[in-house]
Amino acid sequence: MSTLKVLVTGSAGQLGQDLVLLLQNQGYEVLGCDRQEMDITNLEQCVEVIGGFGPDAVIHCAAHTAVDAAETDIDAAYLINATGSRNVAVAAEKAGAKLVYISTDYVFDGNGTRPYHEYDNTDPKSIYGKSKRAGEILVQSLSSKFFIVRTSWVYGKYGNNFVKTMLKLGQEKPLLQVVDDQKGSPTYTVDLANFLLELIQTEKYGVYHASNSEACTWYEFTQAIFAEAEDILGLKFTARLEPCGTEQFPRPAPRPRYSVMEHLSIRTNGFQDIRPWREGLRDFLFEMKE
Ligand SMILES: NC(=O)c1ccc[n+]([C@@H]2O[C@H](COP(=O)([O-])OP(=O)(O)OC[C@H]3O[C@@H](n4cnc5c(N)ncnc54)[C@H](OP(=O)(O)O)[C@@H]3O)[C@@H](O)[C@H]2O)c1
Repeated sequence: MSTLKVLVTGSAGQLGQDLVLLLQNQGYEVLGCDRQEMDITNLEQCVEVIGGFGPDAVIHCAAHTAVDAAETDIDAAYLINATGSRNVAVAAEKAGAKLVYISTDYVFDGNGTRPYHEYDNTDPKSIYGKSKRAGEILVQSLSSKFFIVRTSWVYGKYGNNFVKTMLKLGQEKPLLQVVDDQKGSPTYTVDLANFLLELIQTEKYGVYHASNSEACTWYEFTQAIFAEAEDILGLKFTARLEPCGTEQFPRPAPRPRYSVMEHLSIRTNGFQDIRPWREGLRDFLFEMKE
């Protein structure tokens, strides 16, 4: 049993909830904070709450994650993802805590043809991506003990996500068109949370790419969701699945066409790679069954 003290921001979010549960189950002393307990846009409150708890590590999951809304609500995206992350970084540093900042594949341009590694140039195209990248830079310059952990296509038991949407629509609609020209790596919150726990035990600071390994398109992901859910949950899907192009679903924020991330830092720091996405998906469906 570890005695590490860990504070989690965004603890009511999709990742935050699984992370808090896992930390508690593993005997950590945990303080989960959502907006009510600690609004990250309030510097004084961050210093007070983080300083008061005195954590060994802060895992910063809170973010403005509404990718399309961010294109018009630019100030809100930067206030939370950049300034808010600055506040968390200042407070964590004052408390002498390690800081984990959860970031995103959207920091890349999405035009690549081979997996992006941790030290490839960033070039975000959306406001969400730009504001998350601004958060990375602030964390990097203000924390002396930081981990920047970029992940992608996150789903889990809590909150709305692609897997849950497809499970629902697949049973309701006669036809489901899903984009087949955007490629990335789905990530199960529990697998990511387990990796974060391993990371905070160490002093192996730096930038990490942490998605489930291997890649697929959204269409291929949906095929797998249906096949595995039929097998594990015994569901029957009425929808005929059809591949389509990004242009069929115009969105305010540009989506990366290719956002596969190589796990160079996981390898070079001697961590075990995160398992393939399909294994994570199966375990998620087993979790849903329970
Ligand atoms: N979901 C993905 O596919 C994905 C992909 C790559 C990276 N990420 C990153 O992974 C992290 C976790 O994502 P997630 O899917 O768990 O997101 P989420 O479910 O949207 O959770 C984010 C949480 O942050 C909270 N929050 C927002 N503004 C806040 C503020 N001012 N003060 C305190 N809390 C605030 C939200 O609370 P409210 O509900 O009250 O707003 C929400 O509970 C984020 O950093 C995200 O950028 C996510």
